[in-house]
Amino acid sequence: KAGTAVKPGETELARQLEYIRAIRAENDAFAAENGRKKKFYSLAMGCQMNAHDSEKLEGMLDEMGFDRTDEETEADFIIYNTCCVRENAEQKVYGKLGWLKHYKETKNPDAVIALCGCMMQQETVLQTLRQKYRHVDIVFGTFNLYKLPELVATRMESGETVYDIWQEQREVVEDLPAIRHFPYKASVNIMFGCNNFCSYCIVPYVRGRERSRTPEDILAEVRRLAADGVKEVMLLGQNVNSYGKNLETPVSFAELLRMVNEVEGIERIRFMTSHPKDLSDELIQAMADCDKVCKYLHLPVQSGSDEILRRMNRHYTKESYMELVRKARAAMPDITLSTDIIVGFPGETEEDFQETLDVIRKSRYSTAFTFIYSKRTGTPAATMENQVPEDVIKDRFDRMLNILNPIVHEVHEEQLGKVMTVFAEEASKQDKTVLTGRADNNMLVHFKGTEDLIGQMVPVKITENKTFYLIGERM
Ligand code: SAH
Ligand code: SF4
Ligand code: F3S
Repeated sequence: KAGTAVKPGETELARQLEYIRAIRAENDAFAAENGRKKKFYSLAMGCQMNAHDSEKLEGMLDEMGFDRTDEETEADFIIYNTCCVRENAEQKVYGKLGWLKHYKETKNPDAVIALCGCMMQQETVLQTLRQKYRHVDIVFGTFNLYKLPELVATRMESGETVYDIWQEQREVVEDLPAIRHFPYKASVNIMFGCNNFCSYCIVPYVRGRERSRTPEDILAEVRRLAADGVKEVMLLGQNVNSYGKNLETPVSFAELLRMVNEVEGIERIRFMTSHPKDLSDELIQAMADCDKVCKYLHLPVQSGSDEILRRMNRHYTKESYMELVRKARAAMPDITLSTDIIVGFPGETEEDFQETLDVIRKSRYSTAFTFIYSKRTGTPAATMENQVPEDVIKDRFDRMLNILNPIVHEVHEEQLGKVMTVFAEEASKQDKTVLTGRADNNMLVHFKGTEDLIGQMVPVKITENKTFYLIGERM
């Protein structure tokens, strides 16, 4: 049935584990001969989906007997998990490939370069790689990440560049080895792909149609994570509000949240992203009822203009969006909101832009991710008339930040004097005596503390406002 999660490809997993063993044997032999293990460098660009996918890639590389390094200049295996949501993400990859060519020529001719992720799902990118970047060794996309071991083995045997790009999901392989970036918090995919086709967005073309995992698979993973010490889970999907609609036994996202809320050991639940068109009263109620669900909602508005929203294919209006904000605040008075905004969508007028500013003023976001519209070939917006000139966009973008940042500052200022429970995540890179973590409402908090507090919920009194984060003292 279309849209239904395929049952775990257990035989496929077993095949890949065979490749992992074979590569490990070779890597161990290399280590014995050279007195050092081969090292991998892994970079995830783009969104949390990619970050989470890279955790799986890194888990597989670790099992293959590579050591992880943060120094790209000493790596034997380099893998970039790419993003193509905006043009600058792609330019970054080409820039790095130029550097890598030099690296292979001068420092490490045996280094293996692998590219994967969203950008690789585009035919034009593959052509460019084939023509201009022949020093790349392995190329694969978003649907066959689990095949990394097989692709590495094929590259080792053939000595030639391996291309393996699929146009759709054929098999879902669960239970891949993974290395979590944080010991105490984890991401969990609840669905893959996107069906919304917002007219500016390339994601549906490179991530395929929406597929939900079953609640059983999700809960089993969450329980395993809890048993492994994880306290906070982030449920991931491009539009979590349409979760479960196509499952054989349909389940709503609100119902899923309630189930995850019951998992013992899990103390906090976050999720992203919520599309305003599908945000139900049922979900707001579930958020309010579930003690572990953080009172924080990322609700991308994109634009405040009804006409732009219509041409973006977003299926809501400024008024219906503001109604959701009101409902969420009525049900959870302390909730914080964040959003995504695009400036300079084709045809955006000054009046349209003023509507966006109005939404910013009324919604009082604690954070906003703001983007300059980027033309993506193949999307409907790319061929729309009236593309907005660059200088007009830049000017609007600056004016938007001048409205937005004072609001962000004020929303943080309101927290002064409060005692918040902060989930201590890591020591600050600049100062090891300072810990950083997030409050329930997703605000970033820095406070003095020792590293043994990492992974704990710490009561912190907020003493200072730094606009984009807070400073506090341990109680
Ligand atoms: N599924 C999520 C967003 C994923 S992409 C959602 O619908 O909210 C993250 C953000 O990138 C989007 O919310 C949008 O603001 C931005 N974005 C996507 N395509 C873009 C483009 N072509 N130009 C500029 N920003 C874009
Ligand atoms: Fe892109 Fe829209 Fe899908 Fe989000 S919901 S990934 S913006 S198409
Ligand atoms: Fe994410 Fe970028 Fe792909 S935003 S889904 S990594 S195109």
